[in-house]
Amino acid sequence: NTPIFNLNTSAKIPGIGFGTWQSTDQEAYDAVISAIKAGYRHIDTAHVYGNESIIGKAIKDSGIPRNELFVTTKLWATDCLNPKEALKGSLERLGLDYVDLYLMHWPVAMNPNGNNKMFPTKDDGSRDIIDRTYIDTYKDMEKLLNTNMTKAIGISNFTINKLQNLLNEITNIPAVLQIELHPYLPQQELVDFCSSKGIIVEGYSPLGSTGAPILKEQILVKLADKYNVSPANICISWAIWRKTIPLPKSTNPSRIASNLKYINLSDEDGKSISELYKTTGIHRYVSPQWGVQIFD
Ligand code: A2P
Repeated sequence: NTPIFNLNTSAKIPGIGFGTWQSTDQEAYDAVISAIKAGYRHIDTAHVYGNESIIGKAIKDSGIPRNELFVTTKLWATDCLNPKEALKGSLERLGLDYVDLYLMHWPVAMNPNGNNKMFPTKDDGSRDIIDRTYIDTYKDMEKLLNTNMTKAIGISNFTINKLQNLLNEITNIPAVLQIELHPYLPQQELVDFCSSKGIIVEGYSPLGSTGAPILKEQILVKLADKYNVSPANICISWAIWRKTIPLPKSTNPSRIASNLKYINLSDEDGKSISELYKTTGIHRYVSPQWGVQIFD
């Protein structure tokens, strides 16, 4: 019994999603099959993850009716000039008629004819960024709401400043903002800002990403003992306690299943986790490694 949140489109969204970044090929297929079997009904992918086809196949093979699943994919930065074509390609790869949510992956535009790396570079090593605003890209995404290709649109990796700039210019408030969120990176101000605008916040890397070092933190271990769950369950429960949607990722069937479990944290316990980043002195997060100036 996953919590269910309401989007500003009035659609419902399952409050725990299955993340698939860094899962490729057979691994991604097996993971999605395990996830759906375990009860996940919300799957998060992206064109740039390179796994849409295999995830689409797993969704189909799962036998779960399409309307019982919530599927998200994302517009990659090199497709910024033509979101409609990009979404068409994603739907073809996924083998779906529509997605439930289409997100702008990053507030950055890159040369569509550049090389095909995640962050294309020019010959001189600089990034192949083009002069196109995320506002114009979003305005083209808004047109997708008049098609049957996606039920909702949203954004990812935006800051408060960028989100405010966007909101000043557009008509359809994003349904969702997806950002990196875990106890080392709570981004409380941004979460509060979204909540004041009716935007649901999803958190990627809710366990702190590869290796999940956060799970060894004393406060998480202590609360895991107290509630008789795992430290990962505490991270996920904390995300839900603050009304954000965690997108835990695993390729291990028992961890996949276990990550669906959450408990209702007391406010005191929730707050103590929110404070963790202040005292550890650890500010380990994955977003800046992508080298895009996102914290402005
Ligand atoms: P694995 O795929 O071997 O389970 P995030 O969701 O923050 O990106 O974290 C994903 C990382 O955390 C992966 O390395 C994943 O490895 C690991 N992980 C996922 N679930 C758990 C869990 N319940 N306990 C410990 N590690 C986990």
